[in-house]
Amino acid sequence: MRLVLLGPPGSGKGTLSGTLTKEFQSVHISTGDIFREHQQNHTEFGRQISYYIDRGHFVPDKIVLNIIGEYLFNRVGKKGFIFDGFPRDIAQAEAFEALLAEMGIALDAVVSLDIPVEVAVQRLVQRRVCPQCKSVYHLTNRPPKKMGVCDFDGCELVHRHDDHEDVIAARIEEYRSKTAPLTNFYKERSLLRSFDGSGEPERISSAVISELRKLVAPAQ
Ligand code: AP5
Ligand code: MG
Ligand code: ZN
Repeated sequence: MRLVLLGPPGSGKGTLSGTLTKEFQSVHISTGDIFREHQQNHTEFGRQISYYIDRGHFVPDKIVLNIIGEYLFNRVGKKGFIFDGFPRDIAQAEAFEALLAEMGIALDAVVSLDIPVEVAVQRLVQRRVCPQCKSVYHLTNRPPKKMGVCDFDGCELVHRHDDHEDVIAARIEEYRSKTAPLTNFYKERSLLRSFDGSGEPERISSAVISELRKLVAPAQ
């Protein structure tokens, strides 16, 4: 299965990816996670991109596309994948389409999660993440078993630098002006599958999985 997850900040892309990667044995590629790993490791690249991320702006397309090209050719190859947070604007979507064509592969679907802005903000201010395994928690909706600690590896959970209200507002505006037009881009290609992202995580993942299974089910 070759998927793209689309949706505003806090719509649940990372949370859904956890279930879908297990279900479809696909490689999960989150550009946000890749960038944060560089920031955590204090690489020169991490320093450069922090300028954009910490202000809630997109990292320039050229930088993103270099990274994606490397991942696609060297790490993904012919395997299934779930891109989470990429592509994020029309230029990235067009470049991605060209890269896939060059590799002789195609997307199966683009899953779009829709949520109201106030739900996104409430989710992001209370989100905590594991810097090690990238598991996502929420202080009220999905608390870890032991407060402040990852259920899977015992790492101390962190509050993302960009999960503060002023930065969240900038991220939502970037999404509205640059990423939202991708829904039409993928609708025109008959790839878009839209879901309400505001229900229970388990209900959302079941709805998405049953829709995606239809794509791989043999014709009746
Ligand atoms: P990125 O890390 O991709 O952030 P994002 O797109 O803003 O999305 P989030 O990770 O904030 O939200 P999510 O949809 O994954 O929600 P989650 O599952 O965590 O990008 C960060 C930055 O990197 C960008 O701002 C940009 O600067 C840069 N960047 C990345 N990719 C780029 C690109 N391609 N081009 C340019 N720049 C790029 O859930 C959120 C919270 O809600 C959690 O606490 C979770 O527990 C909870 N939750 C999830 N689902 C539910 C549910 N159904 N019910 C209740 N709570 C839920
Ligand atoms: Mg995420
Ligand atoms: Zn962890």
